[in-house]
Amino acid sequence: MMSRYTLKCISCGKIYEPTPNRYTCDECGDLLGTLEVVYDMKNIHLTRDDFDKKAGIFQFKDLLPVSSHTQVDEFIGGTPLLKFKGLLGQNEVLIKYDGISFSSSYKDRASIIAVNKAIELGYDTIYCASTGNAASSLALTSAHTNLKTYIFVPDQIPKGKLSQLLVAGAEVIPVKATYDEVFDISLDIGREKGWYCRNSAINPYLLEGKKTGAYEILVQNDYIAPDYCLVGVGDGTVISSICKGFKEFYQLGLTDKIPKVIGVQAENASTLKHVFDNGEPFTPIQEEVSTIADSISVGNPRDVVKACKFVKSTGGHFINVTDDEIISAIKEMAAKTGVFAEPAGATSYAGLKNMIKNGEINKDDSVCIVVTGNGLKDIDAVGKDADVTFYTKDEAYEKMKGE
Ligand SMILES: Cc1ncc(COP(=O)(O)O)c(C=O)c1O
Ligand SMILES: [Zn+2]
Repeated sequence: MMSRYTLKCISCGKIYEPTPNRYTCDECGDLLGTLEVVYDMKNIHLTRDDFDKKAGIFQFKDLLPVSSHTQVDEFIGGTPLLKFKGLLGQNEVLIKYDGISFSSSYKDRASIIAVNKAIELGYDTIYCASTGNAASSLALTSAHTNLKTYIFVPDQIPKGKLSQLLVAGAEVIPVKATYDEVFDISLDIGREKGWYCRNSAINPYLLEGKKTGAYEILVQNDYIAPDYCLVGVGDGTVISSICKGFKEFYQLGLTDKIPKVIGVQAENASTLKHVFDNGEPFTPIQEEVSTIADSISVGNPRDVVKACKFVKSTGGHFINVTDDEIISAIKEMAAKTGVFAEPAGATSYAGLKNMIKNGEINKDDSVCIVVTGNGLKDIDAVGKDADVTFYTKDEAYEKMKGE
């Protein structure tokens, strides 16, 4: 049977059939040659009535490269789209809140696709390298299956994410190295062993799961595309997926425009921004990076070409924010909206604040920020605020007298 989709190299455009071991382009290699899943859009006929505001990602099955095989599939996606009037002086700000997800991050959308694909292709083992969220998400979404799961993590992984891996019974390989180094180590070992790879960018299908976040923003906002969508960026896969999701719904005639997608990076981990600002042809560089936002502490972004091309095609660009601005954003967003984000998840809020301050976004512009991870995963980031002095029982009564 002909496949419903093909795989297209982001750099040279070569088309590949989706054979089981096809990950990246033979000509262009892993970094330049990440693949895009391309469907025959002319033969996909969907209407607004086909979708539900609360359903999970498999409601978009015609636009996914895998069928549903696991018992947790229906609980992935369908996260809230919160709407705040007057937030930051804007008429309205939308928050896509993926901190409320199966493993509490956006990565569940990708992990469930990888788990299903591994099952469909008959693998018995799956692996990934991760700064923490992809890892914990893979460990938890695969936990009930027969897949054996190996997870390679760098030593900067926050405790909350590590504990998710350990309780899920995954085989954890903690390495004294950066995420970029651990990524390469995992690929060497995983390829030699012949395991199924769930590494960002290398596996083209992950983006297909992640793009459902953009679909859901549109479905939940009555198919009205916001003017801007801001998202935190490390490897560049999440932002590529958001661009792809908006573009596909536009191509299908389900919405009438594509938002400008803005990538927000941490000031000392802005490699993708630097590549974008250097202009076309987008040429990968590697940098030493350091940020409190562990999930986006990436100096060798693996979806660099795709992220730059896709963001440019929406009319968007990349900005950066300082670590202090990220920490303030976590607290301010929680206090004003009840959304408690981990540092990478609050980066979009920090970016929005700066764009409003600089006059790049006006009061009437509609904006959506994507909150990609839950604050409970990394409480040390705002740790000082959890240090309190406890009253004696009598002091508590005394203290509250005047309230
Ligand atoms: C919470 C969170 N936000 C944002 C990102 C950025 O995604 P990407 O590395 O695909 O750019 C990640 C990736 O790990 C993440 O975990
Ligand atoms: Zn190629």
